[in-house]
Amino acid sequence: MQESIVIKNLRKTFRLSKKQMRIDKTDNPLKVAVDDISFSTYKGEIFGLLGPNGAGKTTTLRCIATLIKPDAGDITVEGINIEDDVNIKKNIAFLTNELNLEKMFTPNYLFDYFSSFYGIDQETVEKRKNYLFKIFGIDKFSEVKIGELSTGMKQKTSIVISLVNDPDVIIFDEPTNGLDVITAKTVTDFLLELRNQGKSIIISTHIMNLVEKICDRVGIILDGKLVLCDSVEKVLKSHPGKDIEDVFFSIFNEVNYEEH
Ligand SMILES: Nc1ncnc2c1ncn2[C@@H]1O[C@H](COP(=O)(O)OP(=O)(O)O)[C@@H](O)[C@H]1O
Ligand SMILES: [Mg+2]
Repeated sequence: MQESIVIKNLRKTFRLSKKQMRIDKTDNPLKVAVDDISFSTYKGEIFGLLGPNGAGKTTTLRCIATLIKPDAGDITVEGINIEDDVNIKKNIAFLTNELNLEKMFTPNYLFDYFSSFYGIDQETVEKRKNYLFKIFGIDKFSEVKIGELSTGMKQKTSIVISLVNDPDVIIFDEPTNGLDVITAKTVTDFLLELRNQGKSIIISTHIMNLVEKICDRVGIILDGKLVLCDSVEKVLKSHPGKDIEDVFFSIFNEVNYEEH
């Protein structure tokens, strides 16, 4: 199996505002969101970063997607440091279900607009648009303004727009969060399809059975630290009779026991 993304000793600290310090009930203005995390992903696999709210999942993914700069650590994609190569950056898509599409435009217009940034020829754009719009059921709504679409359709459009350039690395923060069950199924089926195409995929989630359903490897992250990282199969094999949720809680209780 070919290594794709390699993350070594990633660390990210945030300086908290006074208000955040009050909310977090802390005197320390520095929050270590990601604390010396290392893991690798492989082509044709889905890696699931599993952890509760505030564990550091989004921060890790945003570092990999070059949206924020880590304090320390190295991230390479196929051996090339992501900081050094603009083409690598373009090849990494960061997806969320948070909506940020301009309401006035149609899916069709937005797809063409974002494709134009990558200099893709019109024939390829049309082919890809047809393929993605069909999978996500956007084809019937391609000329409807975003502002008039249902929430699910807006979310699907935003996913499709992030994939215009057919990236090899797909990072998806909480892929099923806020989606209705049908849309969630479309999205998870599509992730499996991307896996079949040999893409390297990292998702974050707090949903344990999503990991069991679609992930090949899992990393459990607690309070900024990666406390377990292995193939889902191996994790299940080494904990007979347990599912991922059982494994998660036994690790969670252990860590909390050690701390208190
Ligand atoms: N921009 C930021 N400024 C300050 N603190 C942040 C910022 N982003 C995240 N954090 C803090 O870092 C920790 C990890 O957050 P995050 O990566 O969003 O966790 P998760 O995605 O697992 O819920 C949390 O305590 C969060 O409050
Ligand atoms: Mg998050």
